[in-house]
Amino acid sequence: MRIDIITVIPEILTGPLNQSILKRAQEKGLVKIQIHNLRDYSVDKHRKVDDYPFGGQAGMVLQCEPIDRAISSLKEQRDYDEIIYTSPDGEKFNQPIANQLSLYENLIILCGHYKGIDYRIREHLITREISIGDYVLTGGELAAAVMSDAIVRLLPGAIGDEQSALSDSFQDNLLAPPVYTRPADYKGWQVPEILLSGHEAKIREWEFQQSLERTRQLRPDLLD
Ligand code: ADE
Repeated sequence: MRIDIITVIPEILTGPLNQSILKRAQEKGLVKIQIHNLRDYSVDKHRKVDDYPFGGQAGMVLQCEPIDRAISSLKEQRDYDEIIYTSPDGEKFNQPIANQLSLYENLIILCGHYKGIDYRIREHLITREISIGDYVLTGGELAAAVMSDAIVRLLPGAIGDEQSALSDSFQDNLLAPPVYTRPADYKGWQVPEILLSGHEAKIREWEFQQSLERTRQLRPDLLD
């Protein structure tokens, strides 16, 4: 899989995308994440990529030309399954969307900034707009990092135990059951007896009941 991220602030992305599981997935060749500085596609001698909005509102808008040049240059090199724009207006990111995107070969994620991007780019080049929640970030970079993380960890081989990505919270619309590790007794705080019983089938059933109960209590909307 390949993810191309276009941004005006590459520095925000390099940290989160080059640690832990995302770093290892790239080293193993499961994914290539390429960050592109939008300013490299500017035609302006000062590498300017934004301008004032028509209509006189406050703030700056990312211009069509550098974005078009960046996306066109990537599209000349390969076909893309989706060209995603990170925006609070978009469909709300969730586990089913992460699952779907993880099956694709090539993705572009365009990070918005300032007041946004020229709307003509959204009309003509963007295939999908995604929000990571109902709040406004200063830019789309953190949203791109969140989506990339959720997608890459699903790639086969990215997580040591193949089962563990499937048993995550939300993967079957249920929250994950509680987990414990040694010691079984810490300051008198006991691990549930059943988990020490060695009785595989009963343990799985207990976990399922815990998941169901936690979902009922904490996220009943998931059961609808
Ligand atoms: N850009 C600004 N806010 C955002 C959000 N909530 N989700 C995705 N991109 C954004």
